[in-house]
Amino acid sequence: MQFKLTLLSTLLFSSSALAAWVPWSSNVKRATVCNGRAELCRRSYGNVTYLGAHNSFASSTNPFSLARTQEVDVTAQLRLGVRMLQGQAHMKDGQLRFCHTYYLRKVKAFLDANPGEVVTLIFTNPEGISVPRVWKPTFDNSGISRLAFVPTSRPTKRNDWPTLGNMIDRGKRVVVFLDSGADGSVDFILPEFDYIWEDPFSSTDKNFPCRVDRIRGPLSAPDHMNMINHNLNTNLIPIGDGVLISDRASAETTNGVSSILAHANGCSRFAANRAPNFVMLDWVNVGQGAAAVARLNGF
Ligand SMILES: *[C@@H]1O[C@H](CO)[C@@H](O)[C@H](O)[C@H]1NC(C)=O
Repeated sequence: MQFKLTLLSTLLFSSSALAAWVPWSSNVKRATVCNGRAELCRRSYGNVTYLGAHNSFASSTNPFSLARTQEVDVTAQLRLGVRMLQGQAHMKDGQLRFCHTYYLRKVKAFLDANPGEVVTLIFTNPEGISVPRVWKPTFDNSGISRLAFVPTSRPTKRNDWPTLGNMIDRGKRVVVFLDSGADGSVDFILPEFDYIWEDPFSSTDKNFPCRVDRIRGPLSAPDHMNMINHNLNTNLIPIGDGVLISDRASAETTNGVSSILAHANGCSRFAANRAPNFVMLDWVNVGQGAAAVARLNGF
């Protein structure tokens, strides 16, 4: 009682609390368009399909760069409708590098210029770099940490995510996953496979046969979100283990609506007949990725 009275009098008589309180309650701003669509504001984050860029960092316009998987940089990817960015990071000169130094700052600049957009980051951590000591400060320095969504239940079931409108209204519109090393010590860096399952990657089969390839944690596959690895590889040297490179020559077909929908359909039986959450492509500037994703979202 004593505590309640003190709190009440603080609220009533402290002018600064009042000043902060009144405009907040009388002028709540609500998002009306979310990720480009009014309908998506009311839809749960876990019930939306997002276009994804595989190895988003590895963009190059040089056709002789064998490691490239994208032709346009992250800003252009985001402008094309990509809302999930995937990539690997490595340590170089004591800093976490995403191939291009300004990568995360470009993402932040896009988010600042587009306040009605929710973006997912799914990074891999092949060198087991420390999440609290290296990953977190990297996100902090880019300004992304304060936009990062922190779930209340962990792991979050696919159906339990808030709506895009809610995330945008709260300014928590970046979801960050790491494939390994996310041990809970940093609340916004989530262990990917506790939340998302993926089908096989580096497919050389243009039919992309689906199965649950990587998954973890207590939740069942249908309670996870899911990602389709819709990027086709070709074997450059078909002897021994071979050398797989991304198949640029087939990108128009691979990234066509029919190939993407067929792949999504093949995975739906593992996802309670739902569309995939993430459609990850190479060469996002080629083909019809955004159109396929719009179809999967029912538009
Ligand atoms: C969203 O829900 C609708 C209706 O149940 C379903 O058809 C669609 O596949 C779902 N999409 C995702 C990505 O879960």
